[in-house]
Amino acid sequence: MNLFRRKKISDLQAEILSDHSLKRALGPVNLTALGIGAVIGAGIFVLTGQAAAKYAGPAIVFSFILAGLACAFAGLCYAEFSAMIPVSGSAYTYGYATLGEFVAWIIGWDLILEYLFAASTVAVGWSGYIVSFLKDLGIVIPPAFTSAPYNHAAPADAGWNIWRLFTEGWTSTGDVLNVPAMVIVGIITVLLVLGIRESATFNNIIVGIKLIVILAFIAVGLAYINKANWQPFVPPSLGPGTFGWGGVLRAAGVIFFAYIGFDAVSTAAQEAKNPQRDMPIGILGSLAICTVLYIVVALVLTGIINYTNLNVPDPIAVAIDSLGKSVAWLRPIIKIGAIAGLSSVILVMMLGQPRIFYAMSKDGLLPPVFGAVHPKFRTPWLATILTGSIAMLVAGLFPIGLLGELVSIGTLLAFAIVCLGVFVLRFTDPAIPRPFRTPLFGIVCPLGTFFCLWLMYGLPPDTWARLIVWMAIGLVIYFAYGRRHSKVQQAAQAEQLRRRL
Ligand code: ALA
Repeated sequence: MNLFRRKKISDLQAEILSDHSLKRALGPVNLTALGIGAVIGAGIFVLTGQAAAKYAGPAIVFSFILAGLACAFAGLCYAEFSAMIPVSGSAYTYGYATLGEFVAWIIGWDLILEYLFAASTVAVGWSGYIVSFLKDLGIVIPPAFTSAPYNHAAPADAGWNIWRLFTEGWTSTGDVLNVPAMVIVGIITVLLVLGIRESATFNNIIVGIKLIVILAFIAVGLAYINKANWQPFVPPSLGPGTFGWGGVLRAAGVIFFAYIGFDAVSTAAQEAKNPQRDMPIGILGSLAICTVLYIVVALVLTGIINYTNLNVPDPIAVAIDSLGKSVAWLRPIIKIGAIAGLSSVILVMMLGQPRIFYAMSKDGLLPPVFGAVHPKFRTPWLATILTGSIAMLVAGLFPIGLLGELVSIGTLLAFAIVCLGVFVLRFTDPAIPRPFRTPLFGIVCPLGTFFCLWLMYGLPPDTWARLIVWMAIGLVIYFAYGRRHSKVQQAAQAEQLRRRL
């Protein structure tokens, strides 16, 4: 049995031609909007403030540039793949075609950290904004029901003892559950099972709202910048990963979360009218727009309020509050924008996860229930319910910082493998038509891999411990189930048998 058996690109391309189940309705504008809809969320509305307060101060701006660079390299590689193999399985399928089944499994398992856990993370961010919005209306939800019961601080003497980092350091916060976060995941799960897919028009409206809110924040904030808040721009280091340049790197790993989602454009490849041309536009266009916005927001945010005040669930709203009564009108607008915008990110993430399960199940790497399609609603309902139930539990139990870092490290690993995949395929299959070619691939692909690994390196040891335990569980499942049921392996064995006979 060959662990590195690959899916033939010609087979994948034939599959695409024969599969007409999805409607090709999306053009370049809709695809770019899809990317922006998936990208702008809890990262900018919540984590930016926390990362500035805890790790980088105003130098969070450099963190955004660093993370943006890693994403630009990865984005180019995603663009090459998604124009070449426009299928909905995204990085999982690219891995299967280039580096073989074992690596594909690793990516697929790792993508659960991206999509499923990102849905939970953003739900916790959503909870912060809805609780604060309801409070403004005079409705107070008891705090015990709006935050996580557990927190984690890595034991100082654990070093790189993975098991200790994983099991020790948990504390009870005294709170019960983050109920609003669970409720939003529950509602979105039901919508997805019933088949209310995010229509392009609905997504465009939400994206419009998000962009208006962010632009309004920038326009108003620019007038209130107090340069004293930027002094010192890079606060002196207080220890490894806390302020100084080490803090900039750690914060880059954290706010990398804010960029996640442009890759989700690639999962819509089978719904694109002209994927060869429009996939690169959608991926790179949404990434470019978000990068510029993020850098400006980070400058304005740390310019209008001192970064030490930003470790809160709704930093953008808190920054506006600090400007006094004359701009109080913007406060509810920001909150409503964040609440709508975060909901659409959860929707896209929870739409993506069952598709990946579906693709893995069709390949035999996961049991058939993951690919079950509801006879009436025509949705992968069991996978959706499973995704929703786990995402709900995770959102209710854990704090946003812990979840966000886990999502970042998981996605960085997937991006690193995608960059490597593009590089390898240029040598192993140079003749495949590539409608979009990553420019200077000999530099961009290795740099992309390097930047992603570097950002991973900046994340704390307890986040690494969670990634390692997660991947170990994945390996057990692969060797116990996936390897034995893999369709690609079975077909290869049947072929060998036929030849022998
Ligand atoms: N980039 C997405 C967000 O920030 C996941 O919410």
